[in-house]
Amino acid sequence: TSEESFYDLIGGEDAFKRLVHRFYEGVAEDPLLRPLYPEEDLTGAEERLRLFLIQYWGGPNTYSQERGHPRLRMRHAPFVIGEAERDAWLKHMGDAVESLELPEEQHQKLWQYLVYAAHSLINA
Ligand code: HEM
Repeated sequence: TSEESFYDLIGGEDAFKRLVHRFYEGVAEDPLLRPLYPEEDLTGAEERLRLFLIQYWGGPNTYSQERGHPRLRMRHAPFVIGEAERDAWLKHMGDAVESLELPEEQHQKLWQYLVYAAHSLINA
């Protein structure tokens, strides 16, 4: 039980805050992605993605306490996500991951998951 989670390893809540904040700065300026987000204020979307990623990587499970089971494919069904949307999402997430300046191994582990997850959410 004393095993350190990937969440702790890369810097805990602070790292995920910086990651997701940087990502949404990109989304806010993106003409393809921004219109997909239903809320005018991206703060709620930012919080949901941050809490999800924190939980996924072994941090507190606040996401599921607030939102229930993630069911990401179902939750993305209302949005048309083709290859262009996936690539735009990954472009901003790639910039955000790079901004963390993690050691190579951690960077790759985080990035490979995000690429896989983004590919799995294509629905159009
Ligand atoms: C929610 C778009 C990929 C995790 C959303 C929302 C949109 C969106 C428009 C609604 C925003 C809101 O919560 O108000 C996209 C697009 C993607 C993508 C275009 C491109 C492939 C991903 C990936 C992940 C992810 C790869 C996880 C690694 C989430 C989560 C939520 C969310 C956790 C909130 C779900 C909830 O609790 O309601 N996404 N997304 N998304 N997305 Fe994505």
